[in-house]
Amino acid sequence: MAQLLILFLTLLIGAVAFTGSMLAYGKLQGLIDDSKVTLPRHNIINAVLLAVLLVLTVYVISMGSQPALIWIVSILLIALLYGFSFVAPIGGADMPVVISLLNAFTGLSAAAAGLIYDNNIMLVGGILVGSAGIILTIVMCKAMNRSLFNVLIGGFGDNHKGKKEEGEAQLAKEISCSDLAVQLYYSNTVLVVPGYGLAVAQAQKVVKRMDNLLSANGVDVNYAIHPVAGRMPGHMNVLLAEADVPYPKLLDMEDANEAMANTDMVIVIGANDVVNPAAYDDPASPVYGMPVINVWDAKNVVVMKRSMSPGYAGIQNQLFFHHKTKMLFGDAKSSLEELNDELKTLES
Ligand code: TAP
Repeated sequence: MAQLLILFLTLLIGAVAFTGSMLAYGKLQGLIDDSKVTLPRHNIINAVLLAVLLVLTVYVISMGSQPALIWIVSILLIALLYGFSFVAPIGGADMPVVISLLNAFTGLSAAAAGLIYDNNIMLVGGILVGSAGIILTIVMCKAMNRSLFNVLIGGFGDNHKGKKEEGEAQLAKEISCSDLAVQLYYSNTVLVVPGYGLAVAQAQKVVKRMDNLLSANGVDVNYAIHPVAGRMPGHMNVLLAEADVPYPKLLDMEDANEAMANTDMVIVIGANDVVNPAAYDDPASPVYGMPVINVWDAKNVVVMKRSMSPGYAGIQNQLFFHHKTKMLFGDAKSSLEELNDELKTLES
């Protein structure tokens, strides 16, 4: 019976992780729209599916003998369906957490398979992947100030979009590259907040060149790293390491927020959700309660992005209309190249 229990655990966890991961991939690639896969009262459907799955599994295991193929196939199909349905209502800023959880599931499934095959390497490898995934899931939940239960039950389909419409009626102020270059050149402290758009534009090396130009003029340039900026854990750290940005220049969110009041200029490059003040002041927003980088506490803020489009969570950002904020529209790499040219003219 123990053997049968382990076999079904492998099957269930593996199947849920498989379809869940496929759906998460589709969502992250923008191939699948959250609203198309979420049904009303989706969490109740999930609870029913999970209950059916567990009851069926316990029943088959309790039969004791080798289960008929039809039982195994039925349980496999329901588990595959549950994996899809489990991830369907989760979206927006909660996706990194569910991806990390699915990663943990694959490790646990491999560990259970290791028990079946009496393979210690599989067992230990699976336990390592599973525990690393669980630790990362907990760390991310903490970083977002959410409980795991809240993430899994929160339901993207039930969220509304915060103050989007209100924001669209407002006007954002723009700044030119030459004006920004002058302001940066005569600043004492500059904080760069990178986000997903920096990765899209592949602008990390151009940012480093800007850093070099400013540092040569005595400006103290640092980087504020949000734990879920980008699309994978450590995304910004990897990008900036690729551009040889020294590690001590990367401030974690808490240190960056402490340094904010003494910062002359913040440049937000392709970041959006991780600098959204709705996290503090809009209880209707899907990012409400998530810790963010408080860029509005700095003396000046410039946001580099291509348009007023929302970020991953699909919500408008009141930061763009803040009295301290100016927008520099365009692809981050092109804007930074132009900015660097302007900085060079100031140098000479
Ligand atoms: P986002 O909120 O996704 O915003 C990225 C911004 O970059 C967009 O508003 C976009 O605006 C801009 N952008 C895109 N291409 C650009 C380009 N070539 N040049 C300049 N700007 C460009 O990014 P974020 O602030 O980094 O937040 C990450 C989001 O992803 C969070 O909601 C997070 O929960 C989610 N997420 C994170 C992870 C992990 S583990 N990091 C995994 C999955 C999901 P325009 O289109 O107007 O340019």
